[in-house]
Amino acid sequence: MFDGVSGRYDLLNRIMTLGQDSAWREAMWRSVPDSARRVLDLCTGSGTSLVGLRRPGRTVLGVDVSLAMLRVAADSTAGGGWMPRLACADGFRLPLRADSLDAVTIAFGIRNLRPRRDALAEIARVLAAGGRLSVLEAAAPKPGPLAPLARWWIRVAIPFAGRLSPDPSAYRYLSESIFEFGSGPEFEVDLAAEGFRIVANQSFLFGAARLWVAERRPAVGQKATEQAIVVQRAMNVPGDSAQAASGTARVRDEVATWRLLQALTSTALAAALVWALSVWLKVREDLPLTPPQRLGGGILLVGGLVVFGVRSLIQWLRWSASRGGGVRLS
Ligand SMILES: C[S@@+](CC[C@H](N)C(=O)[O-])C[C@H]1O[C@@H](n2cnc3c(N)ncnc32)[C@H](O)[C@@H]1O
Repeated sequence: MFDGVSGRYDLLNRIMTLGQDSAWREAMWRSVPDSARRVLDLCTGSGTSLVGLRRPGRTVLGVDVSLAMLRVAADSTAGGGWMPRLACADGFRLPLRADSLDAVTIAFGIRNLRPRRDALAEIARVLAAGGRLSVLEAAAPKPGPLAPLARWWIRVAIPFAGRLSPDPSAYRYLSESIFEFGSGPEFEVDLAAEGFRIVANQSFLFGAARLWVAERRPAVGQKATEQAIVVQRAMNVPGDSAQAASGTARVRDEVATWRLLQALTSTALAAALVWALSVWLKVREDLPLTPPQRLGGGILLVGGLVVFGVRSLIQWLRWSASRGGGVRLS
């Protein structure tokens, strides 16, 4: 199924998440400790989550069972002076030694791995004790005032947008599998049963997507691994880690400021279009225009207003997500 949808997968993903998935992925990347040297992105698909995992001295491996998806991943990550390792393999039988990874990420993949507990057991096998698992997943809405709207989005809008895909049935499956996955508590029970301790979680877009950050508990008689040093410095610089942390905070502030400017610009344009439309409605009959020209002008203004209205909404959501910073520690 994923082989069939690989061509337009990223575009549809953007549409269905209202352009929010990149902010959610950023939160997932931040949840991986900088010290993690061997990181697996499981169900990597077209590799959207790979580049953000790049760090000096870190090996990033992307695994997926769909070869067509991996080809898209190989093309999209090529040429940047950096290449993740890619492997076509089944998430239930990873071609990796036990305890060989420091961190595993999965974006929108765990829903597809069933039986889920078997998949979590395999991840626990390859993760070192104390290693981190970060799972980003679309979740079914929890009861609340926005739940009917969210249900409509998953049940109707997603399969409808899926008509743009070469295989629309894949998007009916997506809709069904989100409801089957549930809103989270069932997954948290499975995590605990397979030896994971949840250390953080975050909810996005009123619970439409969630991020769970968990640590693999050491088995009896096993010790958690020491945090590795990623890059050896030639000289010891006192206060180096504080400097790195403040650098990360500065980058986050810059991203938030940039998104705020984009949101303000879009909102100003939408407001200008509201004003232009109100003027147009008052004067259109007095203008020396033919009926088709009047209709065309109206369509342009209303269309522009819808586009900039939606864009402004998305920009404000992205801004609020970038202000959110790190994941909430539980
Ligand atoms: C919804 S896509 C997510 C892709 C990507 N992580 C992203 O965020 O866009 C789910 C991916 O899981 C992969 N997948 C499904 N079952 C799998 C399995 N048993 N082992 C490895 N990958 C699997 C599919 O091939 C597909 O690429």
